[in-house]
Amino acid sequence: MTQPELHPITNGSEAAPTALHPDTLLIHAGDEHNLTAAVVPPIWQTSTYKAPSLPEDFSTLASSVNPAHFYSRHGNPTNDQVQAILARLEHTETSLVTASGMGAITAAVLSVVKSGDHIVTQSSLYAATVLLFRNLLSKFDVSVSYVDQTDVAAFEAALQPNTTLIYVETPSNPSMKLTDLAAIARLAKSRGVMTMCDNTFASPVNQRPADFGIDLVLHSATKYLGGHSDLTAGAVCGSEKTVEAAWRTMIITGASLASFDSWLLLRGLRTLNMRVEKSNQNALALAAFLESHPKIAHVFYPGLASHPQHTLAAAQMTGFGGMMSFELAGATEALQFDAAQTVVRETKLATNAVSLGGVETLIVHPASMWSLHYSAAEKKSMGISAGLLRLSVGIEHAGDLIRDFEQALAQIK
Ligand SMILES: Cc1ncc(COP(=O)(O)O)c(C=O)c1O
Repeated sequence: MTQPELHPITNGSEAAPTALHPDTLLIHAGDEHNLTAAVVPPIWQTSTYKAPSLPEDFSTLASSVNPAHFYSRHGNPTNDQVQAILARLEHTETSLVTASGMGAITAAVLSVVKSGDHIVTQSSLYAATVLLFRNLLSKFDVSVSYVDQTDVAAFEAALQPNTTLIYVETPSNPSMKLTDLAAIARLAKSRGVMTMCDNTFASPVNQRPADFGIDLVLHSATKYLGGHSDLTAGAVCGSEKTVEAAWRTMIITGASLASFDSWLLLRGLRTLNMRVEKSNQNALALAAFLESHPKIAHVFYPGLASHPQHTLAAAQMTGFGGMMSFELAGATEALQFDAAQTVVRETKLATNAVSLGGVETLIVHPASMWSLHYSAAEKKSMGISAGLLRLSVGIEHAGDLIRDFEQALAQIK
């Protein structure tokens, strides 16, 4: 694995174009958008802004893209600061923040596809993204093919003359499979197809899809970018042209990021690198412990040599992330289910809650959480087995986490 590349500040910044490490970018990129003397910019708690004195200036403002001082559905100064940071982290020309990850995904996808188009995507995807494709886009005559994300040839075989988008997510939930970003970008470019990657699980600290040629990078900023489980937000990172198209869709769908959540996101971003690096270390230590434990049948973590795509992970990720899943051993499905429930109940440091990417360790048992939502066959196709647990590893002390799981596992009958 290589260290994250230094990235020069050039994007509309007054600063000299010197190469700065992401640690520094997180603190200083976008400073030019803090238009006050306050070191910590204020929360722009206003829905509207006074017009410039010249009517023609107001008219220019009213038709400008993502303006900071017009109307808060169109933008605000804190969003500009966050967007400058995210673009530099993701190595894209620019970025857009939205009210949630789904707000970002919906704005990006709807800005690209039109009636009659076809999308190729992977079968393992965030559940609400599948709902967007199945329940919303189907109403507008957009068809979608789902393929095995580990098989680049399957993406190629699924392409049709009307395919306009390849949509991927890597690593994906809950089986932690990877998609080969460079291969997908190469394939798409050779066929004139656009690409999008949901980079939520990895975060830009561990993976920068634009470096491999992916056109648009999407985030649930609710997760690692915010990092404290206290906001919902999303992001679209890409070229000026594609991000402008997403912004034009976002102001129609109304998924604009509110001032307070934007301020919290800026605050959370300051420590992104430190938080993610600690989660990476904790996850690797915990994965190695769990893999060696007799009551665990399997650990799915890209940082383990046993992961079938470990080589790809080492090539396209600069850290393996804080997300993992593992299966409890047991002679029958019922015993595996009970063992998983015991671990969830007995861990003291892992909170049983959805979401991920916060400073605290979270655990979920997908088979029980989704028991009313998905049929047994659907759960099977999604890789949700009876004994599977998903972990978002936080930034607690690794030794404490390992001891906690050790005592929880010891309580399985
Ligand atoms: C991979 C991934 N993408 C997108 C989303 C949607 O994000 P949000 O809940 O912020 O809309 C989530 C939420 O869990 C997610 O895990």
